[in-house]
Amino acid sequence: MFNALITEKVGEREFQTGLGQREIEDLPAGELLIEVQYSSLNYKDALSANGNPGVTRNFPHTPGIDAVGIVKESANDSFSVGDGVIVTGYDLGMETDGGLAEFIRVPATWALPLPSGLSARDAMVLGTAGLTAGLCVNKLLQAGATASEGKVVVTGATGGVGSVAVALLAKLGFDVVASTSKTSQHDLLKTLGASEIIDRESLSEAQRKPVLKQQWQNAVDCVGGDTLVNLLKSLGHSGSVACCGLVGSADLPATVLPFILRDVNLLGVDSVEIPLAKKRHIWEKFSGDWKLECLDQLATEIELAQVPEYLDRIMKGENIGRTVVRVK
Ligand SMILES: NC(=O)c1ccc[n+]([C@@H]2O[C@H](COP(=O)([O-])OP(=O)(O)OC[C@H]3O[C@@H](n4cnc5c(N)ncnc54)[C@H](OP(=O)(O)O)[C@@H]3O)[C@@H](O)[C@H]2O)c1
Repeated sequence: MFNALITEKVGEREFQTGLGQREIEDLPAGELLIEVQYSSLNYKDALSANGNPGVTRNFPHTPGIDAVGIVKESANDSFSVGDGVIVTGYDLGMETDGGLAEFIRVPATWALPLPSGLSARDAMVLGTAGLTAGLCVNKLLQAGATASEGKVVVTGATGGVGSVAVALLAKLGFDVVASTSKTSQHDLLKTLGASEIIDRESLSEAQRKPVLKQQWQNAVDCVGGDTLVNLLKSLGHSGSVACCGLVGSADLPATVLPFILRDVNLLGVDSVEIPLAKKRHIWEKFSGDWKLECLDQLATEIELAQVPEYLDRIMKGENIGRTVVRVK
């Protein structure tokens, strides 16, 4: 028997998540049995625990799209018992029982060796949110973004993706504008490296004008909807937005005008289904020249039993930074 967070369906649209026990034999098939050391909380875990059918349809279920741990059994030549591994995304925590448990069993194709420059805990302080922030920054850099050409704005800046994006962009020398609703967290955002902080409402209202005053050269957007459209309208010529989230809306009520008048780019970012090699590249960056010294400042460490309370905060848009879950 091992401890696991379990979400159960208790009514037509009612779900309850709490600490329970599972049997190793009940885990899905897979080549790697992994003893989880740390997991982390992401927006998607909150959706899974609230029965969002776009994430999880079968209950009872153990959420947790992230895990880092030690291989206990391996049926794959690339991994040996005792190896440290990271697993994020693919189906983990969706229909496959997830990382908010003492054990997971997954296909070997989902697992990466833990890079030598990264502790297990720091890997989960970053987690899927950090990986996504890294992929956003990588996309901007590939599109030609440079620190010298103008400001970069990050929306949802106090959240998981946003806070890591602020810290990483600042580390790379960018002039970072953080967009947030949380006046209480301005000091944190400055500590992470933001040079300017704006109220997120200044970006959230639909604007009639086809393009707006050019305010920043690049952006990382976690919000979607009118916020994303306003970013597209207010980028400098040939600027880019890396779009990864939908906390505000999944809509994109845009026209083609910013694209054809200002040559701007809308860059899609997915951290879940991309090939493992692309994930590995970003994890290696985070253990090397992208190593963030401020991870402790954006991390809150909790135990499995505290997870339901913290998932509620995510659903209310109240999350700050990254929540790392000490599983063992
Ligand atoms: N594409 C991918 O592979 C991928 C991977 C990870 C996450 N995501 C998506 O990225 C988004 C952020 O994820 P996360 O883990 O960073 O979530 P999070 O930790 O809950 O942070 C979201 C932040 O967005 C802001 N926010 C919340 N509700 C909002 C609203 N209605 N309108 C505007 N801003 C709002 C809040 O920050 P402020 O108070 O500072 O404004 C909040 O802290 C989610 O939509 C998630 O699904 C996508």
